[in-house]
Amino acid sequence: MSTKWSITTRLTLLFALVSSGVLLAFSTFVISAIEKHFVEQDKEALQGKIVLIESAVRRLSTPEALPAFSQLLHDAFVGHDDLMVLALAPDGSTLHVSTNIIFPVDRARQAASAQRTGTFDWREGTRIYRGLAKAIPTSIPDAGPMVVAVAIDLNHHSNFMARFEKTLFALATTAALACGLLGWFVVRRGLAPLRLLKEQASNVTASSLDTRLPETSIPVELTGLVQTLNQMLERLQDAFNRLSNFSSDLAHELRTPVTNLTTQTQVALSQPRDAKAYRETLASNAEEFERLSRMISDMLFLAKADHGLMLPSTETIELKQEIDELFDFYDALAEERRVTLTVEGQGRITGDRLMLRRAISNLLSNALRHTPTDGRITIRIQNTGARTHVAIENTGQAISPEDIPHLFNRFYRADKARTHTSSEGTGLGLAITKAIVSAHRGNVSVSSRAGLTRFDLVFNE
Ligand SMILES: Nc1ncnc2c1ncn2[C@@H]1O[C@H](COP(=O)(O)OP(=O)(O)OP(=O)(O)O)[C@@H](O)[C@H]1O
Ligand SMILES: [Mg+2]
Repeated sequence: MSTKWSITTRLTLLFALVSSGVLLAFSTFVISAIEKHFVEQDKEALQGKIVLIESAVRRLSTPEALPAFSQLLHDAFVGHDDLMVLALAPDGSTLHVSTNIIFPVDRARQAASAQRTGTFDWREGTRIYRGLAKAIPTSIPDAGPMVVAVAIDLNHHSNFMARFEKTLFALATTAALACGLLGWFVVRRGLAPLRLLKEQASNVTASSLDTRLPETSIPVELTGLVQTLNQMLERLQDAFNRLSNFSSDLAHELRTPVTNLTTQTQVALSQPRDAKAYRETLASNAEEFERLSRMISDMLFLAKADHGLMLPSTETIELKQEIDELFDFYDALAEERRVTLTVEGQGRITGDRLMLRRAISNLLSNALRHTPTDGRITIRIQNTGARTHVAIENTGQAISPEDIPHLFNRFYRADKARTHTSSEGTGLGLAITKAIVSAHRGNVSVSSRAGLTRFDLVFNE
């Protein structure tokens, strides 16, 4: 249906249509039952008359008695305008016929000779007649039977039926209209909770995302919908909160290095200093600028990932080889801290070499930062069917369970005490790793207990 009809209109029309159909079927049934009843009634009445005439016919014993019988019929039926009689003599000639109608003599003869017990109808001008014929043997020797037929005028029936049909039609139409109206009323009442929902949903704004639609006062059919809408509101609220927190976090994160830079510069300018002091200030500022610029490029990277603009290329990457190269890079640092780096297993995935290197590098640099002296970092690669699994495990103090769910959030650092010191990271590393892995149709998770922390990357082909 291309036209947008409201549910109320559709159901109202459906109600009216169905009730019209039912009433039409009912009326047809009633009319045909009454007509059948009339036929039976007429037949009985006509049979009664035939029986009356029959006994007189059977008593006729001579042809000379026939005129007297004709007179008898005439006398018996005079004044009965609605009852007509036809009598054919044994030789087939018409012995008696009522003058007020034209009797279909041939039909009467046929019906009688075929010994038909049913009535027959015929039309004469505007009137309809119903007749019954019978062949009755006489007592006249060597004579055939007489054909006797009686008929009635059906005018009173048809008048009654016309009036009855008219009344029935008027009643059925009124009933169909009433059903439609009732349907409209019932549907409007039934849909009232939907209108209420609409009103409540239209009140939800960015500042009232904590609104939830009522689940108890709603019919069961709508509970599922309301629950889904409430879950949607929950997700929206969550995303909105994260976005708002993110903006404030971002401002906060940017403020610290900018304040540091301003203070250092103002202190340096507060009095004349020698070239060495200026160089030191500039070097420290340069470090802060680097940190700022790294944070900004990380933010841009994440913003791109958020908007689906991060389109990884599809090279085949030998994971073992990439990790060996990363180990070469981190070797000096690891050696200094006496941390053992090991890689086990092999595997390959298709994706963007630089991005994946960045993702694993972030995990490796975190691991190195948190592994105590004489600790070890192990990377295990496993290829199982359509999945490639990379686990990065390091010894060291476990991450507390309260931090685990937030670890991949932007700017989240588990070690609160060291937040905002320029030597520490920006708290974006894991968020970037997660974005990269997701862009490669993968998943990242963390588990940490009993002196072991493990990050698992699972890539689906
Ligand atoms: N292997 C690990 N062991 C213990 N804690 C970890 C480990 N990896 C990450 N963390 C905790 O998770 C936090 C978030 O890590 P993430 O890499 O996102 O930020 P960062 O390392 O602080 O900064 P960035 O990576 O941007 O330089 C870290 O601050 C750290 O507290
Ligand atoms: Mg990090």
